[in-house]
Amino acid sequence: MSPSPNTQIKPLSFEVSADAKDVSIGGVSVASLAKSYGTPLYVLDKLTLTTMMRAYKDAFSTYPAPVNVLFAGKANLSMGLCSLIAREGLGLDVVSGGEFYTALRAGFPLERVVFNGNNKTRQELELAIGQGVGKISIDNFYEMALIHDVVQSLGQGKKVQAILRITPGIECHTHDYIKTGHIDSKFGFPLSQLNEALTQLTQQYADTIELVGLHAHIGSQIFEIRPYLDLAEVMLNLFQTIRAEFGLTLTHLNLGGGLGISYQGEDDPPSVDALAEPLIAKLISYAKEIDYPLPTLILEPGRSLVATSGVTLYQVGSIKSITEINKTYVAIDGGMGDNIRPALYGAVYSAMVANKPNEPCTRKVTIAGKYCESGDILIREFMAPESIAPGDLFLVFGTGAYNYAMASNYNRMPKPAMILVDQGKAEVLIKAETFDDLIAQDLQPA
Ligand code: LLP
Repeated sequence: MSPSPNTQIKPLSFEVSADAKDVSIGGVSVASLAKSYGTPLYVLDKLTLTTMMRAYKDAFSTYPAPVNVLFAGKANLSMGLCSLIAREGLGLDVVSGGEFYTALRAGFPLERVVFNGNNKTRQELELAIGQGVGKISIDNFYEMALIHDVVQSLGQGKKVQAILRITPGIECHTHDYIKTGHIDSKFGFPLSQLNEALTQLTQQYADTIELVGLHAHIGSQIFEIRPYLDLAEVMLNLFQTIRAEFGLTLTHLNLGGGLGISYQGEDDPPSVDALAEPLIAKLISYAKEIDYPLPTLILEPGRSLVATSGVTLYQVGSIKSITEINKTYVAIDGGMGDNIRPALYGAVYSAMVANKPNEPCTRKVTIAGKYCESGDILIREFMAPESIAPGDLFLVFGTGAYNYAMASNYNRMPKPAMILVDQGKAEVLIKAETFDDLIAQDLQPA
């Protein structure tokens, strides 16, 4: 089995320069990136990203029915990324009108888009259905009626394809896996309501909605294989029950996303192959056992597809040493606006001083952001070179997922640019916001 990039911390193309005064990603020196585009800066390594996308496709290629790997846009989305995803033959999972619109404007093949979310608005549904979205994951009764209404009022004379999101009673948070019939979730139908949902779909809404499958997502940053195997069994059992009770043979099984990545040395996520092999075997054997035709498999990975390809580059500014408590704050020129995950989840990242890659790291410091909030700490305990100083370039690994996507303009800080690097070339995927962008929507009162 070849480990896929989600199992390592650094992007595949990461290299230390010959003089040990710089590092490069995608063959581009990060010092030159900082000089050309400023800091903070999101950098995406195309090699790692495409390797990971291909790893998913290859790993599941032995599944005897079709497999649709959807890139979960919530992890990181822009028009440029949409183009890369389309070129690699993947689909897209969107959860808002804004994500859908990004795909639409990027020319993404919309039949490959699945629209998820627990409270899609009429306006969002009108846009997506009107433009020919591939599938909608129906989350609740309210939405079912709304979709019906939208399809009728659009009058396109065709049904919308749908999958039904259910709460499967399996939930994971990294190392914590529960299979308890857990039903406290804002997403999807509890199993107890499945019967009613199918009754409505096959009776009231049969002329507008074509139900083709079921959908579940069991969590994120998952390190275990077993919950996926259990989920496969739960879902196939539901398929069988639905066939028996409603005479409906569902053809699409969406198992969501969630595979974890390595943020630090101690993390040991399974590679995509390690997930695919037993999952495929389980689906084949269990479908055979219950005599059910193998469904098309849909997967929606986000983090594992894109996190490791991303790094964030900052510049070190003020350094404050508090001798009484023997503590040093090293401030960088970004923070919780471009990476909310440490403040929000206590997320821990690996990092380095990019212009001092080989210096021994013997000085314990705290990496602080520049936002006006004590909780804006990027890394609580970072072992830095003794010589860490203003002007140094600070590089944080594993920031390709849920960093830009969750960025804010807190303190009226402009969002950083995102640069795609590959084979010595850099391309701008997202321009840095300017101060003028920050005031672009502002109006003065009369
Ligand atoms: N499908 C559905 C229905 C989801 O809700 C999610 C993530 C995914 C797929 C993709 O999951 P992934 O493969 O990325 O784990 N902001 C949090 C993560 C929230 C995940 C929400 N749903 C973080 O920064 O850790």
